[in-house]
Amino acid sequence: MCGIVGYVGQKQALEIVVAGLRRLEYRGYDSAGVAVISDGQLEVRKKAGKLANLEGLLGSDPLPDSTTGIGHTRWATHGGPTDDNAHPHVSEDVSIAVVHNGIIENFAELKDELATAGVHLTSETDTEVAAHLLAREVPLADGDLPEAMRRVCRRLEGAFTLVALDRTQPDLVVAARRNSPLVVGVGEGENFLASDVAAFVDHTREALELGQDQVVVLTPDSITITDFAGEPVEATPFTVDWDASAAEKGGYDLFMLKEIAEQPKAVADALRGRISKDHRIQLDETSLDEAVLRDISKVVVVACGTAAHAGLVAKYAIEHWTRLPVEVELASEFRYRDPIVGPDSLVIAISQSGETMDTLMALRHAKAQGARTLAICNTVGSTIPRESDAVLYTYAGPEIAVASTKAFLTQIIAAYLVGLYLGQVRGTMFEDEIRRILGELDDMPSKVDLVLDTTEHVRELARELADSTSVLFLGRHVGYPVALEGALKLKELAYMHAEGFPAGELKHGPIALIEDGVPVIVIVPSPQGRAVLHDKIVSNIQEVRARGALIIAIAEEGDEAIVPYADHIVRVPAVPTLMQPLVSTVPLQVFACEMATAKGHDVDQPRNLAKSVTVE
Ligand code: AGP
Repeated sequence: MCGIVGYVGQKQALEIVVAGLRRLEYRGYDSAGVAVISDGQLEVRKKAGKLANLEGLLGSDPLPDSTTGIGHTRWATHGGPTDDNAHPHVSEDVSIAVVHNGIIENFAELKDELATAGVHLTSETDTEVAAHLLAREVPLADGDLPEAMRRVCRRLEGAFTLVALDRTQPDLVVAARRNSPLVVGVGEGENFLASDVAAFVDHTREALELGQDQVVVLTPDSITITDFAGEPVEATPFTVDWDASAAEKGGYDLFMLKEIAEQPKAVADALRGRISKDHRIQLDETSLDEAVLRDISKVVVVACGTAAHAGLVAKYAIEHWTRLPVEVELASEFRYRDPIVGPDSLVIAISQSGETMDTLMALRHAKAQGARTLAICNTVGSTIPRESDAVLYTYAGPEIAVASTKAFLTQIIAAYLVGLYLGQVRGTMFEDEIRRILGELDDMPSKVDLVLDTTEHVRELARELADSTSVLFLGRHVGYPVALEGALKLKELAYMHAEGFPAGELKHGPIALIEDGVPVIVIVPSPQGRAVLHDKIVSNIQEVRARGALIIAIAEEGDEAIVPYADHIVRVPAVPTLMQPLVSTVPLQVFACEMATAKGHDVDQPRNLAKSVTVE
């Protein structure tokens, strides 16, 4: 969703801000804009559409030199993606420019107040009210922009990151944060603000996490942070553990292709340092008290989209290993149904970005009920881990493509480590059992590598089936969340009707969807694991095949029993049942990516989607 960049220093702000916006493009947006201060004037350029449109405008109507600037990529909420609605928004006297991420929920009432005071609003956005309110407050605060920002923020409801410039204070950028993401990049003689570190990692890897309801004031040489009441607060420093090259395509045509290929390394990184020499799980970094873990009576996973699918996979493992009940709930539903959580619940929030608003709100609700909370997250310094009692980072590196790939595999790994740790601490698993599973996990990077070596067949199939109107995915046991994930990938990227079903459920309704030639991708359980699952899925395949479905089986090497029932077989290495999602998901990612490419879609930035969904 919206991306924000702010710069104050010695260099040309425009270049830094536009390059930062380019880095944030992956978040998803539909208009872009910039503002700089020059000769005591605010200069704004903004344009609907992609950054290229803004760059075109900057080419025909250049901005003057300036060392202070802000920029924004907007994902429309209030008002369509037009030039007028694009940010920055300015006050009537063009003394204040503002960019905003989030939703100001009481904007209608504030708009009425401004209209009564004779202020003329020129856009349909909620953001514009902040520019006018600030401009009216600055004189009342004796020209003190940070104080004016605090006063305005105390009046705003909802979620917001606001970043403001005042034309009379050329070396100052002031920002405020409530619920929406914002990090500070600490430079030498220059400082940065951004929705995420990708925007400034070219310039500095030293960063500060901001807390809730804080105002940050940047000059080239100082960073001052207060709460909304004006009390000074300390920010938590952190160092970004990847460099700018990690956020580039590195020779691949698409970020998604790069991120699919990075999965063996990502899985290895997620495991690294978490297994002791004597084969025990060591998750010291989580700061989860063992006594607390011994006392919990249930686990609840809250997450959205792909992260929720990772939670569904983990449910099978954690329940099996710990005998604790595990509920997996879509975060957007969780807090609105009065869930039963309390001090005896471990609530695990899974999120790649760490900023997903639905997940954050579910986490806060769980905390308010007294639950113990743990974040499984990829983005260091983001809000969800910061607000959780404990965190297990997935260390997958930056995931830029909107469609999640390596995050999914590493979320499964992290959740499995939590499950094994619970088993270890609570004594529900024998040491040799834990050691065996750790050995299996340790094998996974090379197994995923093997899958990547054999994707040509999947690509061909994707191209052949690109004109299908619908693709169904079937799975059982851990194959069921894999089916959901395969369908989600196809919907996101190929804009095609796709659904994942538990294979046994099909006959209770969805089988009516089957008609001649409908591709059905089946995640076939290992015949070596729980043979009954294999037998049952063969029956389910026969049910749909009898009705004309075209069967594509994702089956392990050596499973000859599946041959008579499949039109196409995509082979994956034989692995234990609980490890199967780590190999069987990969061909589905490749399938969706290739099909979207065949259809000419923008794979890395699919229509209507945002990487980081920071509104509820
Ligand atoms: C995955 O391909 C999607 N883009 C989406 O479902 C995503 O997983 C979801 O929005 C959750 O995001 P998060 O992991 O950053 O919280």
